[in-house]
Amino acid sequence: MTAPFRIAIAGLGTVGSGVVKALTARGDDLSHRAGRALQITAMSARDKARARGFEITGWRDDPLALADSDADVVVELIGGEEGIARDLVERALAAGKHVVTANKALLAKHGLALAKLAEDRGVSLKFEAAAAGGIPIVKVLREDLIAHGVDAIKGILNGTCNYILTEMEASGRSFAEVLKEAQAKGYAEADPALDVGGGDTAHKLCLLSSLAFGTAPDLAHVAVEGITHITADDIAFASEFGFRIKLLGVARRVGDKIDQKVHPAMVRARAALANVPGAANGVLVDAGEAGSFFFSGRGAGEAPTASAVIADIVEAASDGDQPSPVFGRPAAGLAKLAPADSKAGVSPWYLRFEVLDVPGVLAAIARHLADAGVSIESMIQRGRAPGEPVAIVMITHETAQGAVERALKVISASDKVRSRPCMILMES
Ligand code: NDP
Ligand code: HSE
Repeated sequence: MTAPFRIAIAGLGTVGSGVVKALTARGDDLSHRAGRALQITAMSARDKARARGFEITGWRDDPLALADSDADVVVELIGGEEGIARDLVERALAAGKHVVTANKALLAKHGLALAKLAEDRGVSLKFEAAAAGGIPIVKVLREDLIAHGVDAIKGILNGTCNYILTEMEASGRSFAEVLKEAQAKGYAEADPALDVGGGDTAHKLCLLSSLAFGTAPDLAHVAVEGITHITADDIAFASEFGFRIKLLGVARRVGDKIDQKVHPAMVRARAALANVPGAANGVLVDAGEAGSFFFSGRGAGEAPTASAVIADIVEAASDGDQPSPVFGRPAAGLAKLAPADSKAGVSPWYLRFEVLDVPGVLAAIARHLADAGVSIESMIQRGRAPGEPVAIVMITHETAQGAVERALKVISASDKVRSRPCMILMES
């Protein structure tokens, strides 16, 4: 009879609670799938006294003690790229324990070193929940879409941002109000600036790039722009033009280089990514000759994230002594590809200016754009109450990002322009 697989869980918040509840509710079936009994033997979090809605087993005040316990796997669900989460994962791997984590910040920054450590010790380091929540995209890129390679990945990878953009469009509520709601639902990071600033999407994109392209996670070369500057006006204009604004993570191979970027984009309303609602995520994978594949589903929150964590636990229990390489290839062989120029491609751009309604403003904006070689395809000017700034919205012809940025820098300096102009890529 195979010995039980002993599980130590650090972090009992949104995700940790979901894992304990699902393991408790479906333990028999999951053990059956793993081929051995799954047994939670230790737990740790910050506050022992907190009511969590389940029984605490093997409490440890210090999460690091889990690395020295008799567990076979340590499940790290605390979060953060440094501190206790990093210490615990390093110590557990060094002690020869499998590790399952949902911590994309940690892996985007230290993934290569941790993968080497896991492989040296002959243990698993699994992270299905770290990218796109309940969508099994890590497994797909690590094991399934491998025959023809991957040329590009484009995805909505942050549930909080997608929830905010969806709700702002559907209900007209403010950014701040909807963000609070996303936090209450357990979608947001401990520091929600990581969500709305695009950092969380960048962490996930890095991990997916690594799996897809055989590279070491390279966070330093992801160009990142979030959604904090997107207004209700932008969302309304997008809808008028037949588009929706989505925060995208895009990674593609450009020759022998890799382009990785995170930015809001106007996506055509009928496109698959435009129809990913609320806290859901969606990932398009261009797998060369194999074709394009689209995956969508719940990207954040207790149950979908726990689903991915538990899949990893069951896999670790069944792997025996044959753990697979963390990023799909041996860590020592992960390439370090040079970053491509992420501003080189051309596309149409949506531009919004908040300006004083005085003669000559529009002509000056048009002149600065023309000087930078930016040609306007269409324009809308919306009046406001007397004395208030007006919104001028322009759509450009296909133009390189650098040219538009050059023009906006000059235009921003004008005392007739009331706030930083907004520029959003429009998918053609
Ligand atoms: P929560 O904030 O809900 O939970 C964090 C847990 O860690 C809490 O139980 C907390 O203890 C514990 N904790 C925090 N700091 C310490 C510390 N210094 N020592 C001991 N315990 C500590 O986070 P989530 O569950 O939302 O996220 C956990 C991880 O999963 C993060 O890496 C996150 O990025 C990732 N993730 C989250 C998703 C989501 O939808 N929420 C989806 C995918 C990944 P206490 O409860 O006592 O305060
Ligand atoms: N804060 C993250 C999100 C959690 O909103 O997508 C899931 O990784």
